[in-house]
Amino acid sequence: SSVETGLSPLSSPPPVILTQDELKKIAAYKAVEFVESGMVLGLGTGSTAKHAVDRIGELLRQGKLTNIVGIPTSKKTHEQAVSLGIPLSDLDSYPVVDLAIDGADEVDPFMNLVKGRGGSLLREKMVEGACKKFVVIVDESKLVPHLGGSGLAMPVEVVPYCWKFTAKRLQDLFEDCGCVAKLRTTGEQPFVTDNGNYVIDLYLKKDIGDLKVASDNILRLAGVVEHGMFLDMATTVIVASELGVTIRNK
Ligand code: 5RP
Repeated sequence: SSVETGLSPLSSPPPVILTQDELKKIAAYKAVEFVESGMVLGLGTGSTAKHAVDRIGELLRQGKLTNIVGIPTSKKTHEQAVSLGIPLSDLDSYPVVDLAIDGADEVDPFMNLVKGRGGSLLREKMVEGACKKFVVIVDESKLVPHLGGSGLAMPVEVVPYCWKFTAKRLQDLFEDCGCVAKLRTTGEQPFVTDNGNYVIDLYLKKDIGDLKVASDNILRLAGVVEHGMFLDMATTVIVASELGVTIRNK
């Protein structure tokens, strides 16, 4: 007699399905391979970047990396880095950053990004704009054909003063894309960034069109501090998928 298992003895083992977080970790660990001792490092924010910061902390502890200076892109990453014993500084002391590693919310085929759904867009843009190399780490769900067309938020950091006025002007700017501008909240309260500002999330029914024009138009509005489009900034994009890791360089 035999027991029916449903598997023939020759069948290959079932495929391992990786979770999104495992894919994020794979991309993050790959990026940390670019880190060398003595570097000034931009430390990103979010669940993907968190894995990279953890890994940098681990390599420091093991003595495999030495003489690193981290420039955190948020208070949260600052706290994480402190807990890991990563020496920290800022752009005032280190205006040139060797390498930054950070996640993204959307990546288009030209390596332009949407960032800031975690709310840290301003500091991220400052630190990553000061980098010689900016390595973006994502799982494949972040790949889009056009920025802003995913139906998810395009974040804009604004000053709290008359934010409704600014939100209306932002919405009018992208009226043709069916834009709805919403104040980001936590519970009943406005979400407040590390810089004491608010975030207006733009929800677009169509992609935002010419990115440079959209960027210039947003930044021209008084009341806007920064937006989440990171155009022509990434030098490398590491994408983790079920099929493996792909690395694209500019
Ligand atoms: C925070 C960011 C994050 O990098 C972005 O939101 C991606 O986050 P996650 O890695 O958690 O998916 O821009 O402001």
